[in-house]
Amino acid sequence: MLQDLAPAKVNLALHVLGRRADGYHLLDSLVAFAAVGDMLSVEASDRLTLRITGPFGAALANEPDNLVLRAARKLAQEAGIVPLARLTLDKRLPIASGIGGGSADAAAALRALARLWQLDIPPADMARLALGLGADVPVCLRNRPARMGGVGEVLSDVPALPHCGLALVNPGVAVSTPEVFRARAGEFSAPLALPDAWPDAAALAETLAGAGNDLELPALSLRPVIGTALAALRASPGCLMARMSGSGATCYGLFASETEALGAAASIATPGWWVWGGGLSA
Ligand code: C5P
Repeated sequence: MLQDLAPAKVNLALHVLGRRADGYHLLDSLVAFAAVGDMLSVEASDRLTLRITGPFGAALANEPDNLVLRAARKLAQEAGIVPLARLTLDKRLPIASGIGGGSADAAAALRALARLWQLDIPPADMARLALGLGADVPVCLRNRPARMGGVGEVLSDVPALPHCGLALVNPGVAVSTPEVFRARAGEFSAPLALPDAWPDAAALAETLAGAGNDLELPALSLRPVIGTALAALRASPGCLMARMSGSGATCYGLFASETEALGAAASIATPGWWVWGGGLSA
């Protein structure tokens, strides 16, 4: 059996630069990954099956065609083989929450099944397959901090992220990404201004303070409870800055240490909310 962690994707900043004729938006986003995620296991089988477990598994139980299965079929089609595998997805991240759960799961499926089936598909072809599954899947497939442009397909390296603590707070509401993009109004933003290096978490926080998430206001207008999550993070000792990730509703808080992030998570814990504290993915 092979296992692949599908870590939470965190948009530390997200600027919307424009809109394509097909309705997709051009983005400029600084993306990091947290040391928490869903776990995908794959093993050989004579059929293609998916079993979903974990605290958020039930929410996906009635989905007819999970993105993980679509990833499996697409990959097999690309390789010219029949998709045979038993997949188990341990769903630990909340659904429709702005931290890329479904995209990270699909990316993990591409990685794990390419190993199980011993495929040698060129990275550019894997990236194309990923983009066909969703705009956030390429960055999740790459699985390391990145600057994400285009609609999600233009990926470049960023300066090494400093050691820092991260707290994630989801106030228990699902958010529809298309709905948030539709609610966005006003001018488009300028690209992000990123330095050559971040010596420490405070320097990263300073960069982030000069940027934003252009989807935060529209998401707040649809789900005001996001403001409660942001306020809870900002009131936590040691919180350097807090912001929403992706199209929400999960918000992140940046801290100098994992200990502070853990402390914040412990004090914010609220029934019905999903709250996590720790650091960036290794
Ligand atoms: O590609 P994905 O299925 O994740 O996107 C979900 C929706 O989010 C799209 O249908 C589109 O409405 C919106 N979106 C967008 N611009 C992007 C990514 C997503 O408008 N760059």
